[in-house]
Amino acid sequence: MTGLTFRSATVVDADVLVEIYNHYVRTSSVTFDLDPWSTDDMAHKIEAVAELGMPFLVAELAGELVGYAYLSMWREKRAYQTTMENTLYVRNDVRGKGYGRLLLDAVVQDGVEVGVREVVAVIANTPDAVPSIRLHEKAGFVSVGAMDRVGRKFDEWIGVVMMQKSLSRD
Ligand SMILES: CC(C)(COP(=O)(O)OP(=O)(O)OC[C@H]1O[C@@H](n2cnc3c(N)ncnc32)[C@H](O)[C@@H]1OP(=O)(O)O)[C@@H](O)C(=O)NCCC(=O)NCCS
Repeated sequence: MTGLTFRSATVVDADVLVEIYNHYVRTSSVTFDLDPWSTDDMAHKIEAVAELGMPFLVAELAGELVGYAYLSMWREKRAYQTTMENTLYVRNDVRGKGYGRLLLDAVVQDGVEVGVREVVAVIANTPDAVPSIRLHEKAGFVSVGAMDRVGRKFDEWIGVVMMQKSLSRD
């Protein structure tokens, strides 16, 4: 029992979620964003995911938001519409307690319910993203490729690994 509960994000959550996210923007290469998001940026993301009909979940513990996960378009062209990219962030001070795995499983399950068939994770190929790569492996994602030197952050070239989980049964 973790005491963790999930619910759909609303724009009111944006100011807390942006704090969780901006910690990683400022300190790590797990995200390719170079500039911190504003609260409005996060609110627009919450609205865009809702308009797409995809899940955007927040995880709450004793009334505090400790993480979030959502599914969004992997590629824009319409034939990709049953394939989504997943994003998840756990607040830095509560990592390693099992919340990331619960969040990832929950958002994938919600994706199944709205017809998602493939989930793609595009993960930085850097030491600080090792927890994410291990988490996705444990959650049933398989590595399907890698691209080198596609990003530059903190004066280093960064590659990505692509991981995929198939949700379809046929
Ligand atoms: C990746 C992240 C979401 C994992 O969340 P978490 O709550 O810390 O992870 P959990 O405690 O649920 O761990 C689940 C699994 O992830 C892996 N993992 C977690 N932390 C790890 C670490 N420091 N080193 C190696 N593997 C790790 C393990 O396989 C673990 O399973 P186990 O405990 O049974 O061995 C979290 O570290 C995070 O927010 N990181 C920064 C943002 C990020 O990388 N997001 C993903 C972008 S695609």
